[in-house]
Amino acid sequence: MELGEAFRTQAAACARLGSPMYAELLGRLADDIGAGGETAAVLRGHQDDSGPSALALRLAGSLHRLVLDGEEPGLAAFYPSVGGSWDLQQAWPSVLDVLARRSETVRQRLRQPPQTNEVGRAAALLGGLLLLVGRFGLPARLTELGASGGLNLHADSFRYTDDRGRAWGPPDSVVALEGAWRGELPGLSGPLRVVERSGCDVAPVDVATRDGRLTLASYVWADMAERHRRLRGAIEIARRAPVQVRRQDAASFVEALELAEGRLTVVWHSVMWQYLPRDQQLRVQARLAALGAAADRDRPLAHLYAEPVRPEPGAGHEFWVCLEQWPGGGERELLGRVAPHGVPVDWALPG
Ligand SMILES: C[S@@+](CC[C@H](N)C(=O)[O-])C[C@H]1O[C@@H](n2cnc3c(N)ncnc32)[C@H](O)[C@@H]1O
Repeated sequence: MELGEAFRTQAAACARLGSPMYAELLGRLADDIGAGGETAAVLRGHQDDSGPSALALRLAGSLHRLVLDGEEPGLAAFYPSVGGSWDLQQAWPSVLDVLARRSETVRQRLRQPPQTNEVGRAAALLGGLLLLVGRFGLPARLTELGASGGLNLHADSFRYTDDRGRAWGPPDSVVALEGAWRGELPGLSGPLRVVERSGCDVAPVDVATRDGRLTLASYVWADMAERHRRLRGAIEIARRAPVQVRRQDAASFVEALELAEGRLTVVWHSVMWQYLPRDQQLRVQARLAALGAAADRDRPLAHLYAEPVRPEPGAGHEFWVCLEQWPGGGERELLGRVAPHGVPVDWALPG
């Protein structure tokens, strides 16, 4: 796919997912690529990047980061994330100006992959965890692969409401996921005790640092106030009770994992599987199968994930919430479907 087309595809996705600002911005950047303008200049050398739509998000994230850093007040005037007001016609000269003046900084940031930690995805993981606790009735050990800033390892500190007005979680939580769940969710009133939390990531984000916090915020689309609110709340919770996210790949991390007596061991992840090289995917699966073979009702194991899947060859992606558990054979159960940014989850649970 050529660059302009990739930007347009991403612009359409932004429109669908609730960001009119990024839909317009990326569409205009695509026009500028076609016209050989500043955007084409700044992206020189990236024509053959794999996953070209991520390049659009990397460029948008680089601009947003300059705004969040307070380095470009002229452009900030158009960014709702810092109190500005978006208007494409008025903002466009500022965008071009920043691309021209700050091209070196932007090009440096383009080298980094987008680094997000989507708090809304906790709705899928926590729902699956409630189901598991209902089944096994044991305290849980949470282990997250590709945990980014580790924010969702605190999923049990967030407040969730469903489409029937039911709620789970601390009523005064600074993270409120409203309308998070649709359909029947067993275990809504079940007790949940998390006794251990750990995570890994090849590029963890330290939310104790300003740089880490701004990195996460810069990839959240600037006009999506609710996602920014959730992120700020989850960072606040994580800073109160820090959990270490190890700088380690998922395969070696899982290979070091053991089961624990009287504990439900949960390995969970969201939107990270596609980034694992095939050999790491196979190593994770092999280790889970080996641990699963040793699991029993006193030391069960669960693999819970919210990941994009293609239901049939050639079909578009859907995001599924799935569970494999031992004892239980490790067969994949489809628990529900989830929006790309996590909320809402449509549960499709077995009766
Ligand atoms: C799209 S982000 C999702 C982060 C988080 N799970 C979420 O849903 O918000 C993908 C994450 O996977 C991490 N990652 C990529 N390859 C990895 C690997 N081989 N092992 C562990 N983490 C990896 C990235 O650094 C990044 O933090």
